[in-house]
Amino acid sequence: MTELLRIEDLHVEVEGKEILKGINLKINEGEIHALMGPNGVGKTSLGYVIAGHPKYKVTKGNLFFKEKNILELRPDERAKLGLFLAFQHPVEIQGVSLNHFLYTINKKISNKGLNFLEFRRSLLERANLIGITQEFLNRQLNVGFSGGEKKRAEVLQLLTVNPKLAVLDEVDSGTDIDSLKTLTAAITEVNKNGTGILLVTHYDRILQYLKPHYIHVLIDGRIEKTGSSELARELESKGYNWLKQEVYAQ
Ligand SMILES: Nc1ncnc2c1ncn2[C@@H]1O[C@H](COP(=O)(O)OP(=O)(O)OP(=O)(O)O)[C@@H](O)[C@H]1O
Ligand SMILES: [Mg+2]
Repeated sequence: MTELLRIEDLHVEVEGKEILKGINLKINEGEIHALMGPNGVGKTSLGYVIAGHPKYKVTKGNLFFKEKNILELRPDERAKLGLFLAFQHPVEIQGVSLNHFLYTINKKISNKGLNFLEFRRSLLERANLIGITQEFLNRQLNVGFSGGEKKRAEVLQLLTVNPKLAVLDEVDSGTDIDSLKTLTAAITEVNKNGTGILLVTHYDRILQYLKPHYIHVLIDGRIEKTGSSELARELESKGYNWLKQEVYAQ
């Protein structure tokens, strides 16, 4: 098993507040890990730290990607190594079409010599797989996109860059049932080629389509429980209070 990501005793602060308080996590090639937990416990922050967001300060611990310590690398350098983050709340960028945005990241990351027309042709094939039309590709990035459309555009980025490791932050939020099936089918294809996945989610439903090898529960900045799909079903029926009580009783 080739190791992709290894997080060791990671402590992270933002705006002077400690959010992550000792995360340990290892993701190998081809594995799917689901990250669950109540609102505000640090799931999105962990994704940002992996991607290299400068606001999130690592105060202790280490972050390895393919055995290389990446803490000092910029986000674009991490992306070039094969790290990808799909945002929980994708930002709107005026004046840049989805087409051109994807062409630019593809050129920067894969260094493939496709010209724009060639790229657009291959992009359209991938886009059609997840219900994105040429007309949609011409729109400005995320501007006026519905919640579900933004998630579709994030998955199209994933298909375009074909990373080694993808953090997908609530890719299921706001997606209708048919879109969820289409998007998870596309993610499954990427995963079959070896991409490791860290999937942040609140719901058991997506895990019925995208079978995780492990489920981790983050409570107050630490992974307090790791289990199988069974754990997600337990959380769906019981919520998080029982787990919080276990943690705070320690
Ligand atoms: N840039 C920031 N400035 C100030 N506080 C922040 C910042 N980023 C995160 N936080 C705080 O850190 C905590 C963790 O936030 P985070 O977004 O990681 O939670 P989450 O687990 O993803 O929650 P949700 O399930 O609601 O998406 C929250 O209390 C949040 O307000
Ligand atoms: Mg979040």
